[in-house]
Amino acid sequence: MALDRRPRAKAPDRNLALELGRATEAAAIAAAHWMGMGNKKAADLAAVEAMSTVMQTVDMDGVVIIGEGDKHETDRLYHGEKIGNGLLPKTDIAVDPIDGTTLLTLGRNNAISVAALSERNTMINPRPSVYMEKMVVGKAAADVIDLQAPIEDNLQKVAKAKDLEITDLVAIVLDRDRHTELIGEIREAGARVKLIPDGDISGAILAGHENLTGDILIGIGGTAEGIIAACALHCLGGQILARFWPRNEAERKAAKEQGHDCQQILTKDDLVSGEDVFFSATGITHGEMLNGVVFRGSGATTNSLIMRSRSGTIREIKSYHDREKLKKIEAVAY
Ligand code: FBP
Repeated sequence: MALDRRPRAKAPDRNLALELGRATEAAAIAAAHWMGMGNKKAADLAAVEAMSTVMQTVDMDGVVIIGEGDKHETDRLYHGEKIGNGLLPKTDIAVDPIDGTTLLTLGRNNAISVAALSERNTMINPRPSVYMEKMVVGKAAADVIDLQAPIEDNLQKVAKAKDLEITDLVAIVLDRDRHTELIGEIREAGARVKLIPDGDISGAILAGHENLTGDILIGIGGTAEGIIAACALHCLGGQILARFWPRNEAERKAAKEQGHDCQQILTKDDLVSGEDVFFSATGITHGEMLNGVVFRGSGATTNSLIMRSRSGTIREIKSYHDREKLKKIEAVAY
């Protein structure tokens, strides 16, 4: 007779999110040296180099879909770059070595380092679009939002789905002039507003995570950040609805030429259709979601959120790094 009666599918396989975690940790530590130094370029270079160095060691045949720019703009983590050591699985990669570069260089809260991946050919290639409208909620309200409905309707439905009053809700919005009307509508409807100076990947996770403060993220932000947020939402079980937001006729035309329909409402499955999505974020500066890098003596401490959609496992990992030892064995700026 079997000793264990619990049903099992098969032995657990590799969780690539844990390997992404090493990459975001390395990038966060490298970037943290530039906190408050007012030098965006240096911070970005340090984070990109550290992330790419670790990613290249991962057993996978990856292609960068969301990266740092085209090949002529950057020599690491560029769009189309092959990442990993070439072994299976074949993956699509999305990275943002620093989301919140301005926050970091001013020494402000909520800068994070992020990487995600999914099976090959499952991530939308949003180029050349720069911005998209986004609406993000967690699992409880995943089926009730509608990007075309009035803001008040959405807030009412989210409140109902979460068994809250509309006045209890926290709507997260990037603090931008383009959102003045939106912010007015949210306040008018009675919900509370959390204006964030930057970093709408963090904002999306605050809205999508059941245990963090935030009920909905609304507004226009980066397209790349939207795809990465979709990866996180696959893992958290929430929803993102998005629509490309061309700033002018030239951008609309360019998007059309790439086959994008700027009227279409895209769901998290349209943005990332994979069934095995991996995500890691590490705090660079302190934030509501993650504590930032702390340097103590020859060590550094990092905090990461590491998730996988297929298993639904969400890990919060605090790591201690011995920088003296690491400097001797790894070519990363710890
Ligand atoms: P960077 O770290 O690349 O500067 O992005 C920060 C960010 O706030 C994103 O999180 C957001 O999606 C985007 O900028 C918004 O763009 P903009 O600052 O042009 O409104």
